[in-house]
Amino acid sequence: MRVQIAPSILSADFTELGKAVRAAERGGADAIHVDVMDGHFVPNLSIGPPVISSIKRTARVPLDVHLMIEDPSRYLEAFAKAGADTLSIHVEAQPNLSQALTSIKKLGLLAGAALNPSTPVTALETVASEVDVVLVMSVNPGFGGQRFIPSSIEKVRAMRALLESAGNPAPIAVDGGVDLSNAGELVAAGANILVAGSAIFGQDDPTKATRALRAASEEQAVREPN
Ligand code: DX5
Ligand code: ZN
Repeated sequence: MRVQIAPSILSADFTELGKAVRAAERGGADAIHVDVMDGHFVPNLSIGPPVISSIKRTARVPLDVHLMIEDPSRYLEAFAKAGADTLSIHVEAQPNLSQALTSIKKLGLLAGAALNPSTPVTALETVASEVDVVLVMSVNPGFGGQRFIPSSIEKVRAMRALLESAGNPAPIAVDGGVDLSNAGELVAAGANILVAGSAIFGQDDPTKATRALRAASEEQAVREPN
């Protein structure tokens, strides 16, 4: 599976979201990652459906919407209408995970399950065969620009093993502190989607930064079999 790069617009200049999306797309971004925060599940607020609708009008690539909100099942339809292509919900925020994942699929979207750094891989055991994508958080969610938690690499490996045992080849996304220094190792461990905010929009040239992240991830992927 080719590695996908999903720049997180949380780190972009919100007065120029269209420009940010285009810069990432020029660099070969495969999706735009959109962080939704409610001030309850995480100690921060970000954006909701109206802004996502605007991004949808300008983006050519799919929107990967990461819901860091309590009781996400209340809002699935609203985010589907706004133009999400993938909806990831947190296992810590959703009591009936399986039902919520089914609802996302019924809306015609890809259903993702996200895990906080302190949540063990086993939290996904019961839905391992149902998820379309797993999002492994490599920082505590809520803010861009945090330092990558190194044990996330081992967690990706364990998650890949769990998905394999469930016979599910779903991609694993990694989100938080992803940059040129850890991209290769993450891919070698089994990650397929790299979400990056500051490593892309925190750079002078987001187009170049998107290309550089892909190059870093592929370098290790090629080296890995040796
Ligand atoms: C954090 C968000 C991330 C964030 C990543 O809660 O889920 O998507 O934007 O930003 P960086 O890459 O700067 O850690
Ligand atoms: Zn995110």
